[in-house]
Amino acid sequence: MCRSAGVGRAGPVFAAGKGETMSRVAVVGAGPSGLAQLHAFEQARRKGADVPELVCFEKQHDWGGLWNFTWRTGLDEFGDPVHGGMYRSLWSNGPKECLEFADYSFDEHFSKPVPSFPPREVLFDYLAGRAKKSGVRRHIRFGTAVRWIEYDTARDKFDVTVEDLGAGATGTEAFDRVIVASGHFSVPHVPCYDGFSSFPGRILHSHDFRDAREFAGKNLLVLGGSYSAEDIALQTKKYGASSVVISHRRAPMGFRWPAGIEEMPLLARLEKDTAVFADGTRRQVDAIILCTGYLHRFPFLGKSLGLRTKNVLYPADLYQGIFLVSNPGMMYLGMQDQFYSMTLFDAQAWYARDVVLGRIRLPARAEMERDIAAWRDREKALTGPAGQIDFQADHIRELLKEVDYPAFDLDLTRAHFKQWEQDKEESIVGYRDRAFSSPCTGTPAPPRKLPWWDTTDDSLATFLDEC
Ligand SMILES: Cc1cc2nc3c(=O)[nH]c(=O)nc-3n(C[C@H](O)[C@H](O)[C@H](O)COP(=O)(O)OP(=O)(O)OC[C@H]3O[C@@H](n4cnc5c(N)ncnc54)[C@H](O)[C@@H]3O)c2cc1C
Ligand SMILES: NC(=O)c1ccc[n+]([C@@H]2O[C@H](COP(=O)([O-])OP(=O)(O)OC[C@H]3O[C@@H](n4cnc5c(N)ncnc54)[C@H](OP(=O)(O)O)[C@@H]3O)[C@@H](O)[C@H]2O)c1
Repeated sequence: MCRSAGVGRAGPVFAAGKGETMSRVAVVGAGPSGLAQLHAFEQARRKGADVPELVCFEKQHDWGGLWNFTWRTGLDEFGDPVHGGMYRSLWSNGPKECLEFADYSFDEHFSKPVPSFPPREVLFDYLAGRAKKSGVRRHIRFGTAVRWIEYDTARDKFDVTVEDLGAGATGTEAFDRVIVASGHFSVPHVPCYDGFSSFPGRILHSHDFRDAREFAGKNLLVLGGSYSAEDIALQTKKYGASSVVISHRRAPMGFRWPAGIEEMPLLARLEKDTAVFADGTRRQVDAIILCTGYLHRFPFLGKSLGLRTKNVLYPADLYQGIFLVSNPGMMYLGMQDQFYSMTLFDAQAWYARDVVLGRIRLPARAEMERDIAAWRDREKALTGPAGQIDFQADHIRELLKEVDYPAFDLDLTRAHFKQWEQDKEESIVGYRDRAFSSPCTGTPAPPRKLPWWDTTDDSLATFLDEC
């Protein structure tokens, strides 16, 4: 990539000339990525930049994306697929210090140090805190789903068709750029195994898991070998499941599980309520939770604009992980597999903003493709979490070096993530009791008073009372 000669010197591509209409940017989704984008523009505006008109379409009634908890599963009140798959007792699975906003610290939000692994409601409060301070709500049209986006080469415009869900009214508006921040942990990947159709119990995907208490007293089969499988196995055991068997496809997670959780090879088939695994072991099970991941799906995009990727650290076709090489006016945020979440989204949002403002110029397509290929080759050679953490941190560093995002200690967050991996090896029920220091303020987190494994109250009030 090449930077133009100094921030602000190259004229903003979108500056409105005399008598011209101010140009427009559409943001799809007001989850953490979309909010980061609105906030990034707002920061530039407050420093005097001429920013385009921003319209963020959010199909839910509030911001926060997945962090905006819903009791609903399946279809929403309008017959649309429910976006959120977070559950009642969800806690951060990484240290909060590794997702802290450099321009809005946890200290600033809570006015006191808080432990490193907060429950969902606390993180939602923090996310909303920065968005409120930034005043970005005015850009968001809630209850409005993006239905289709088309690019018109002749006009160099994106025609965005949206539906006001409450009114049932559909309309199309033209935009100069589109930033897709619609998330990718929302359309469940649901495999089928022999015997599923005659299984007498409930089979659900983790996207529809809401409350671990539902499975108290049950023998559970959890399919999958990643974060959802790990956490849902722990949550259900914590809230009273009799036993949990985790069945993996590639490799066992290998943690020192508490009594009542065990790992098995891949499920071969079900014989009524008996799960038979690849090594012939058999277990009676009452319910099955498919923690089998998600599909990147963009039902509002056709072939030419839609990203096709799996859950990887560096999707093909996205220069800097953001710009669709075939049409860089189409941008994506947060489409990567995520060690880093909010920090990555901020870095991407600042970078996307500066391209829109004409502060950073994108190279020619061939150079973009070469750059993507180099990152993807590096990703292919990675063998474990330490390398993956470094990879994503390097990606973030690459973005940050071009923009005016406030300084913070990125290397400390790498070290935190690597320590966190070790902590999980030592104690999968105890890693959330560890404390880390802030890469933004240096504040050490206080230790938890009650171990996470013994805590069943995940409310904001209790969490803050305890520290
Ligand atoms: C179960 C679960 C637990 C997680 N836990 C953690 C964690 O502990 N820590 C962490 O850092 N990360 C966690 N994550 C990762 C999560 O991806 C990020 O934290 C974050 O929510 C991603 O933000 P996003 O804005 O990219 O996407 P999302 O949060 O998914 O938000 C996307 C938004 O786009 C909207 N939208 C989608 N389609 C349309 C449309 N057509 N029109 C209008 N609006 C639309 C949605 O309604 C939603 O509000 C978790 C993910 C899952 C699934
Ligand atoms: N805060 C929390 O506690 C928490 C809880 C849950 C999730 N999350 C977050 O949610 C995101 C998604 O995590 P995720 O675990 O749902 O998805 P994921 O990381 O994409 O993992 C999907 C898993 O499904 C397995 N799988 C896919 N198809 C399968 C099949 N046919 N049979 C058996 N296994 C199959 C995969 O196995 P292979 O490895 O073999 O492909 C992989 O282990 C992550 O960002 C995670 O951090 C956070």
